Amino acid sequence: MHISLLDLKGQYRSIKPEIDETLRKVIERQDFILGEECRLFEEEITRYCGSKYAVGVASGTDALILALRALNIGPGDEVITTSFTFFATAEAVSLVGAKPVFVDIEPKTYNIDTGSIEKAITPRTKAIIPVHLYGQCADMDPIIAIARKRKLRIIEDTAQAIGATYKGRKAGSMGDIGTLSFFPSKNLGAFGDAGMIITNDKEIADKIRMLRVHGSTRRYIHSEIGMNSRLDNLQAAVLRVKLKYLDSWLESRRRHAKYYCEKLKDLPLILPYVPDHNVHTYHQYVLRIKGDLDTFMKFLADSEIEARTYYPVPLHLQECYRHLGYRDGSLKEAERAAGETLAIAVYPELTIEELDYVINRINAFFER
Ligand SMILES: Cc1ncc(COP(=O)(O)O)c(C=O)c1O
Repeated sequence: MHISLLDLKGQYRSIKPEIDETLRKVIERQDFILGEECRLFEEEITRYCGSKYAVGVASGTDALILALRALNIGPGDEVITTSFTFFATAEAVSLVGAKPVFVDIEPKTYNIDTGSIEKAITPRTKAIIPVHLYGQCADMDPIIAIARKRKLRIIEDTAQAIGATYKGRKAGSMGDIGTLSFFPSKNLGAFGDAGMIITNDKEIADKIRMLRVHGSTRRYIHSEIGMNSRLDNLQAAVLRVKLKYLDSWLESRRRHAKYYCEKLKDLPLILPYVPDHNVHTYHQYVLRIKGDLDTFMKFLADSEIEARTYYPVPLHLQECYRHLGYRDGSLKEAERAAGETLAIAVYPELTIEELDYVINRINAFFER
């Protein structure tokens, strides 16, 4: 049996008539740029995510860049974030000319260690970007308290966690801005790149609406230097269909995760930890092994089970950030997690036979 980390073909097959029909309609209308689908999808996302405004953009990375620009963050400013995330989180900070300041993670959830944030604040700090990694929220209350006390803004990188909740509040809706990615492999994935920002602040929403179309509110009149970063109308049409199924897909992911957790609990592995106040969406189901990760990965590969480490090099140790002066040992928990974790398939369409196959092979590894 071959188990891919993700197989999107089954998902497409399950909704093919609806997807094909909606795409056909957009094509027939030749309505590609900021059309009706985009507007309706933005409205639907505000309802789904519990925010007042939503602005569709071209990717999750652009959402971060535009969020930072909307908060006037740029050269001379510092932004605190986690070192254990996808590169785009910090890249966006660098691209607006600001400096990312990395802090360590809390080893059980892999999310930003809120106890390390205050020590990283300097007079230049303007914002904190918590990342809701693997589909569960960072511990937002302490982050919000620090941000209020120190007058910092919060951008929630919600690329991996649409639909997750923290103490009943939706991911992305708790800070000043939430950024979403609809990269195809995300729990709500487009047929290409797509992203969105959500916010309760009308001024921020208006500014991002202006920045995403070359800094313009009236045709050919430009009040600021903006970008071309619109949510493609064809992508919005696909995403509108998929959004209707998202909650049932997230439920399947949680069901699979529960099954793995039950069946793997007696092995010398560290399984995902979910605090009571969180509802996880399992964008990734991540195992942690004390010992030889490479041997474990090789065993899984030989069993035709795809597995991957997200992320093998924490951002503070990336070559492009060498000038920031971090070194091995600077952020120990992020470094340990990078060397001890791997994600296995948890996508909704997995069958019980496939889950059992993965579980049996993992058991076999520890029986050797
Ligand atoms: C945590 C995180 N932030 C940002 C991004 C960037 O999103 P995109 O690929 O849509 O630009 C991603 C995913 O790719 C991500 O996982």
